[in-house]
Amino acid sequence: MRMVDIIAKKRDGKELSKEEIDFIVTGYTNDEIPDYQMSALAMALYFQDMTKEERVHLTMAMVESGDQIDLSDIEGIKVDKHSTGGVGDTTTLILAPLVAALDVPVAKMSGRGLGHTGGTIDKLESIEGFQVELNSQTFNQLVNQNKIAVVGQSGNLTPADKKLYSLRDVTATVNSIPLIASSIMSKKIASGADAIVLDVKTGSGAFMKDLEDAKALAKAMVEIGNGAGRNTIAVISDMNQPLGMAIGNALEVKEAIDTLNGNGPSDLHELCLTLGSQMVYLANKADSIDQARMLLEEVMESGKAIEKFKTFVASQGGNASVVDDPSKLPTAANQIEVKAKRDGYVTEIVADEIGIAASMLGAGRMTKESIIDLAVGLVLNKKVGDAVQEGETIVTIHSNQADVAEVIEKIKQAYTIGDQLPVVNELIYGVIDQ
Ligand code: URA
Ligand code: CA
Repeated sequence: MRMVDIIAKKRDGKELSKEEIDFIVTGYTNDEIPDYQMSALAMALYFQDMTKEERVHLTMAMVESGDQIDLSDIEGIKVDKHSTGGVGDTTTLILAPLVAALDVPVAKMSGRGLGHTGGTIDKLESIEGFQVELNSQTFNQLVNQNKIAVVGQSGNLTPADKKLYSLRDVTATVNSIPLIASSIMSKKIASGADAIVLDVKTGSGAFMKDLEDAKALAKAMVEIGNGAGRNTIAVISDMNQPLGMAIGNALEVKEAIDTLNGNGPSDLHELCLTLGSQMVYLANKADSIDQARMLLEEVMESGKAIEKFKTFVASQGGNASVVDDPSKLPTAANQIEVKAKRDGYVTEIVADEIGIAASMLGAGRMTKESIIDLAVGLVLNKKVGDAVQEGETIVTIHSNQADVAEVIEKIKQAYTIGDQLPVVNELIYGVIDQ
């Protein structure tokens, strides 16, 4: 087989075979196929698209390019959740103990990553003593015992995707549905999931700004998952404004505790119940989505969900008393209130700008080497549709820096206050399960 012939075949719109796709992915991972040929192929794929079968073959070839996590020692159907990313997305911290309280095994591998705040792993580290490194035996044992454990990413997962993603980044080929879908799904499948619930976000703060694009990506990922033998569904949710009220690491842990206690912000609460019901249903712990939702509401009300969070924290060495007393979480030296300049209604909160404001405080990583300040971030006092009066607080800044003038400026730019009560976007645009 020759790479040049494969490039020509795809350039001309023909379908590649499994053997050809395996040849490409193996050769590229092993540095036998050079970047210039892979770039040409990525551009051909960008224009010619891929069939359902090609997408599954590409995904599985990337899964097989590196280590695969073996969760077979864990009893039950392991359902993983993935979000395409947004601002203030605290859902994993809530969903993991919430569904585990219904005996859905949560064996979660999570990243740190670059972003406006840290990843789930960073957030958990704001709990004193919490250990994010566990060997696989301890990890499996904890999941069997408590139905929940979360570890930091380790091992050499999907090296083909890592290499291809970096190449796409510099060859204007990131924005291709088959390439994005196979990239995301390869990582989920290599992490050992039996079933996958995807939260595909759309709106100004999301990777997919446009609803139609988000739907297409969701459908592509669901097809790949099911084609690879993993029961997969996708929820499409709104990311035009930040989710919940808190953006920051310790601040989001507190928000997760509030939500598990049934006192969370309504959008975050609702999204967790929506995603959680799908997880419980896929894990065969309910006969219908409606029943799954009822069961989740029950464990929130009865306190079982928050108890599960305590058990989880204690089992990984963390100080579980923060759950009853979140003031034990790291707190910032200064709280500065940002006030509304006029009366009216909040008509828009540009999620990306709020995220940038949080990262300016040190809540997120700008580079892999950055050190996160777990205590800092933002708490929104007003969301889209809320009435405000001049001088009322719209956002509270939690900062360890004395000078936050630029952050205040950023927040003021992100908020629009108008005369008319705006039409508030729906939170859930749909569920795709083909
Ligand atoms: N996120 C990924 O993991 N891969 C992509 O290709 C795009 C977003
Ligand atoms: Ca939040």
